Amino acid sequence: MMAPDTEGQATTDSSLLAPPVAAVVDAVVEEFGADRGRLLDIVQAVQRRIGHISDAAVRAVATALGIHAVEVEDMVSFYAFLDREPKGRIRIRVSKTPMSLMKGAAEVAQAFAAATGAAIGGTSPDGEFTVQWTADIGMADQEPSALIDGTVATRLTPAEAAAIVATLRQNRAGPALLLFPGSDGQSISRARVGSSLARSGPIVFRQGGRGDGVRAALTLPRDSVTQEMTKARLRGRGGAGFPTGLKWKLCQQSISAAHHVVCNADEGEPGTFKDRVLLTEIPDVVLDGMTIAGYAIGARHGLIYLRGEYAYLWNSLQAVLENRRRLGLLGSNVCGREGFDFDIRIQLGAGAYVCGEESALIESLEGKRGAPRDRPPFPTERGYLHQPTAVDNVETFACVARIMEMGASWFGGHGTRESTGTKLLSVSGDCPHPGVYEVPFGITVNDLLDLVGAPQAEFVQVGGPSGQCVAPKDFGRRIAYEDLSTGGSVIVFGPGRDVLDVARQFTEFFVEESCGWCTPCRVGTTLLKMNLEKIIGDRGTLADVTALEALANTVTRMSRCGLGQTAANPILTTMRNFPQAYEARLRPELFLPRVTLREALAEAVEILGREPMAEEDT
Ligand SMILES: Cc1cc2nc3c(=O)[nH]c(=O)nc-3n(C[C@H](O)[C@H](O)[C@H](O)COP(=O)(O)O)c2cc1C
Ligand code: SF4
Repeated sequence: MMAPDTEGQATTDSSLLAPPVAAVVDAVVEEFGADRGRLLDIVQAVQRRIGHISDAAVRAVATALGIHAVEVEDMVSFYAFLDREPKGRIRIRVSKTPMSLMKGAAEVAQAFAAATGAAIGGTSPDGEFTVQWTADIGMADQEPSALIDGTVATRLTPAEAAAIVATLRQNRAGPALLLFPGSDGQSISRARVGSSLARSGPIVFRQGGRGDGVRAALTLPRDSVTQEMTKARLRGRGGAGFPTGLKWKLCQQSISAAHHVVCNADEGEPGTFKDRVLLTEIPDVVLDGMTIAGYAIGARHGLIYLRGEYAYLWNSLQAVLENRRRLGLLGSNVCGREGFDFDIRIQLGAGAYVCGEESALIESLEGKRGAPRDRPPFPTERGYLHQPTAVDNVETFACVARIMEMGASWFGGHGTRESTGTKLLSVSGDCPHPGVYEVPFGITVNDLLDLVGAPQAEFVQVGGPSGQCVAPKDFGRRIAYEDLSTGGSVIVFGPGRDVLDVARQFTEFFVEESCGWCTPCRVGTTLLKMNLEKIIGDRGTLADVTALEALANTVTRMSRCGLGQTAANPILTTMRNFPQAYEARLRPELFLPRVTLREALAEAVEILGREPMAEEDT
């Protein structure tokens, strides 16, 4: 049972609080060395123990850390997985994406609601369950899926949802984690989440020994390791395609008392799950890559920012880290190399897509809300703790290890001129064999569709919502940085899917995920959604389409970070590639308004508290 809260005790002195909250908070804060920088860990641990971050808990954390309560409040209110209000003892979060809804997520969510007695978005009368929607949880290949506290449930059916609730009710005392068939804590990562590696290629998923890349790197001077990345023409796999060798060189050249390596395992782009598969199947290769980066840039510390949705991987990753320490692949004098000390810590996120953006991620690592920073300075100069930091994607680190194992020329011999190596694609949607495919860069969309058994595709979303909606006329285009660039998400839509409804759902995703810092993104994404809905609802004119395009361009140009700068892509790319879908929703004859001016002004009337003047009411 969750410890009772002591809400209602209006005091700022934690010593006057009834024992549970203050005592729990004090113990947690002590566990984290009373380190303000670990605030995200602290509040997550408090929530795990007392159910939510109550006012009393906010005050107690602030007092224990010697900071203002507003700092704690500000940070907690940012993350989707942190609750300020009491919730059910067990939280069921159903993944809501176009892919999950295509596979029956709405029926599954209804089944959870019916079985628990909770409305979707609410808590059951007995306080046992909260059922809610959540953004993509990284299981697009096995939808419908849900997070049940930290446990992932995939390929759900309504009947199974009801059975899970019944089991949870029967086992109130047991930890939810152990309630699923085949799960024993250690193997939970495989128990409910299929492996999903559909096709290995010659690079990332090649056979290779643990630590081989690190040992090869240690035979070279630090600079030469960075030069190998440049020679291999490795570009970051997280989406932007920045040259890894150049990033490391800039980082190395920034003078500081310490440097840091960060592995971006936030993987929040809907439809992407290849980093999850890497961390499940070959975590040692990723950790080899991080260690090589540590050696090259002169860092002693590595951090993995693991998205909160992948908390189920925590135990297995900790076990891998522990094993590496035993083998001398982490810790002091790595691989016997005198003076090269390197270790890695995992930071668990708490449900915020924007935290995948590297500067927001760094803010989050420092225990703050994940708001992107102004750049420059870039993280290579002022990153984690304002020290030079190389933030690289999980797949990038896997490539780094393979480059050191096999050499830059071998790596550069694969792919195209500007896109060397192979690419991991997370394929989902209307295709019979969803999963991760390691393909050569330069593969056409057509060839990919044949490979995954989906030649009937009517449109393909390449690069997730922030990417492009590709029409059949462009299926000859190549997946590569110089043509169709993608962090890895490929979503296939077959006959009968409504391209505008998909664009609407993706736009809604950006509305939900905007951090709210800048107006073009905060307000612009909402207006985009409203205007698109007007067109989808057959209430639009050609003028609305023109206005929508202008607004989309403004949001793209004026937003402060990559989230806002790509939030209009679902609209812009469908406008460009599917103009007929928009035209079909407009009335061909002279536009006749279906709402009266009074109806249109209803909201303004309510806000102003007065009726329109007679001359306005025409
Ligand atoms: C809104 C947003 C979300 C992002 N999410 C991720 C992510 O989940 N994983 C990732 O590696 N990069 C993500 N990025 C890109 C990172 O900012 C950064 O470019 C990347 O981690 C650098 O690593 P790379 O050079 O290996 O690609 C995101 C960028 C934006 C703007
Ligand atoms: S563009 Fe959006 S996510 Fe980025 S800073 Fe502005 S409001 Fe925040």
